[in-house]
Amino acid sequence: MYETAKEVVLNLLSLVERYGFVLNGARSYYTNRSQPPLLSSMVLEIYFGTGDLDLVKKAFPSLLKEHNFWMSDFHRVMVRDNQGQIHSLTRYQAMWNKPRPESATTDEQMASKLSSEVDKEKFYRQVASAAESGWDFSSRWMRNPPDMTTLATTYIIPVDLNAFIYKMERDIEFFAELTGEHTTSKEFSETAKARQIAIDSILWNSEMEQWLDYWLPADVQCQGVYQWNSKSQNRNIFASNFIPIWLNAYHHSGSVKYVNESKSKGVMRSLKASGLLHSSGIAASLLNTGQQDFPNGWAPLQHLIVEGLVNCGSAEAREFAEDIATRWVRTNYAAYKESGVMYEKYDVEVCGRSGGSGEYKHQTGFGWSNGVVLSFLEEFGWPRGKEIVCS
Ligand SMILES: *[C@@H]1O[C@H](CO)[C@@H](O)[C@H](O)[C@H]1NC(C)=O
Ligand SMILES: *[C@@H]1O[C@H](CO)[C@@H](O)[C@H](O)[C@H]1NC(C)=O
Repeated sequence: MYETAKEVVLNLLSLVERYGFVLNGARSYYTNRSQPPLLSSMVLEIYFGTGDLDLVKKAFPSLLKEHNFWMSDFHRVMVRDNQGQIHSLTRYQAMWNKPRPESATTDEQMASKLSSEVDKEKFYRQVASAAESGWDFSSRWMRNPPDMTTLATTYIIPVDLNAFIYKMERDIEFFAELTGEHTTSKEFSETAKARQIAIDSILWNSEMEQWLDYWLPADVQCQGVYQWNSKSQNRNIFASNFIPIWLNAYHHSGSVKYVNESKSKGVMRSLKASGLLHSSGIAASLLNTGQQDFPNGWAPLQHLIVEGLVNCGSAEAREFAEDIATRWVRTNYAAYKESGVMYEKYDVEVCGRSGGSGEYKHQTGFGWSNGVVLSFLEEFGWPRGKEIVCS
């Protein structure tokens, strides 16, 4: 469906042209918060599928604009490591300090626990920023889960967001090379390298062999430069802690740019021991808060991790990727056979069961679940020699 994919991407590009970023949804009341930035990846996938250089040329200025949005002072956080090196990383922050228009009653009810108007406005910004991250809502953004009023999204440097922006920078580097913009290509190569070093200096935890969200001090307005402190890494385990495996082994036009074998092995070891992997996939987190946490598994998270493992290139990583994909396809198929629908999320503990909880009823349809199953089937084929039924 190359034409459909292209038209969807053209819609998203028009949002960037108009607003500077991809809106959280194409609705007038979403103009103050973004989506996780994955537009460059979409353009790249279509280019690999079709060789459509015109699309790349059309997208290029918009991708630069979107990158600029994420590089602004509003999103940038500077952290000095123990060697004195200053790194620049990015956080979510919605430009919004009112109840979310789509859930105003819920937000006002939650905020009623707070006394001052200033605290309410701060809270509303944290809520909208969590929505911007796609993890709405999760213990990941709470100082004191499951207390929603302790959401602190803008005080966190998220692992996944920085991996996405790194990927965007590599994609722009590649597009610039394709379209003959050699200076821009070089510039983005440098920017990406700096971010990779930043991610590995500030977010990587060598003892736990995974990347950890970094918490900024609570009493500041996130300006200036913070001194890195190992205690500020959030040691709670989330599926997002493993997403950078996707950049550890990053591909361009089929050729592997960089794979750190020993690191890949370490990350696999730690994912296997993390407690996230269950009979029907990888959970979002270990904590059951009644939100979008455990035992919910999300299609994009399975996909990012499986794709990252495949990119590692080793037989061991591929086998692990296929194992995760098989668990996921099996539960999706069982649920589909029983209900005739695909779900938004699945319960990773029970084969064939949809996920639950969160602030709205479970949804059917569902674009990303459909897409991820198709992608797994394309990558691995129908699970070979394995019963595709719940055991
Ligand atoms: C939404 O963003 C616009 C444009 O930046 C800004 O003028 C407006 O004040 C923002 N609204 C809120 C509630 O912050
Ligand atoms: C590979 O990763 C390990 C951490 O697991 C690190 O110590 C090593 O320096 C990395 N090697 C290269 C070539 O970057």
